[in-house]
Amino acid sequence: MKPSRRVSARLGAIAPSATLAVDSKAKALKAAGRPVIGFGAGEPDFPTPDFIVEVAAAAAKDPRNHRYTPATGLPELKKAIAAKTLRDSGYEIDPANVIVTNGGKQAVFQAFASIVDPGDEVLLPAPYWTTYPEAITLAGGTPVEVFAGADQGYLVTVEQLEAARTENTKALLFCSPSNPTGAVYTEEQTKAIGEWALEHGIWVVTDEIYEHLVYDDAVFTPILRVVPELADQTIVVNGVAKTYAMTGWRVGWMVSPADVTKAASNFQSHLTSNVSNVAQRAAIAALEGGLEAVHEMRAAFDRRRKTMVEMLRAIDGVVCPTPTGAFYAYPSVEGLIGRTIGGAEITSSADLATVILEQAEVAVVPGEAFGPSGFLRLSYALGDEDLVEGVTRIQKLLAQ
Ligand SMILES: Cc1ncc(COP(=O)(O)O)c(C=O)c1O
Repeated sequence: MKPSRRVSARLGAIAPSATLAVDSKAKALKAAGRPVIGFGAGEPDFPTPDFIVEVAAAAAKDPRNHRYTPATGLPELKKAIAAKTLRDSGYEIDPANVIVTNGGKQAVFQAFASIVDPGDEVLLPAPYWTTYPEAITLAGGTPVEVFAGADQGYLVTVEQLEAARTENTKALLFCSPSNPTGAVYTEEQTKAIGEWALEHGIWVVTDEIYEHLVYDDAVFTPILRVVPELADQTIVVNGVAKTYAMTGWRVGWMVSPADVTKAASNFQSHLTSNVSNVAQRAAIAALEGGLEAVHEMRAAFDRRRKTMVEMLRAIDGVVCPTPTGAFYAYPSVEGLIGRTIGGAEITSSADLATVILEQAEVAVVPGEAFGPSGFLRLSYALGDEDLVEGVTRIQKLLAQ
């Protein structure tokens, strides 16, 4: 067998997750005793609220949860997802159109696997979450990046989408609040994009996983609330990970029209079957337990967000739009490219992230993980003291 044929071309083409790569490099340095501060992780630093963990502990002892259950999820959880959608998004869905997945990530993969064929193009607003292009490519599609920089608050316009549209455009990925930029589309912008997609018969995959993490006067707008007619060509992706500090529990879901739900259910029945029943019971408790815990976390994130943005803006060469959603700041560092920092010539944001890790012992994710070079992503989901210490180290390094 030729060495080049051992791994399939399909999987061989998948890039490693750059966010995980930064995280593992930082962890290796930490394990070697270096005082690394990590801004790389995309998860709340809080533990899962007790009332959720207690339900899970009881569920582990209940033999009902020791067996296979329906591949698409426990009926009680699907009902809770429908009730939560009505509460948070203001429209009704049929629990039969819900599939419970192993995290929002599986929902993203299944969404594209369900609607994309080879030759199809998917419009991908950039900077984008690093998993989307891989999911699109693996489904045989071609991601078409539509870039919005710091000057436009990382928000693409309908004009930009229209300019990128071809007869092969099958779908649009829409993520608001956004990972990695923290940008949030207004109701007006969301409606305009939804109406444009409706007019051109373009599927929308809307990732709403950060719906509850909005700040200042930003408001999360569910695209199906403002353009309900789009329901027949929309797949909603969501999950409990970010809202309830449940990243490790692996419960997400997709909501889609009946034909897509059927196709994705068949796929999941062969791929993973049901999500762990203990985790599903925990998710029911989370969704039925109200939003008090997330409001507390949001207050902490908001405080840290303000500190981080102020400190980043104080650095010469850094431009940081105010993120109003999720828990990331996404400064442009284009002003630092071409400089020599800590003895190293900086030719890209990847270079800069390396120098920051090696010399300031702070882990940040370079823009290359999310599209064009020239940016850094810093998560502010970490303790206040570490946050200040980490950004202070970056300030000192870049002031040299
Ligand atoms: C934009 C976005 N969507 C979906 C996910 C998936 O989250 P999970 O698979 O943990 O539910 C993430 C996680 O980082 C994300 O940032």
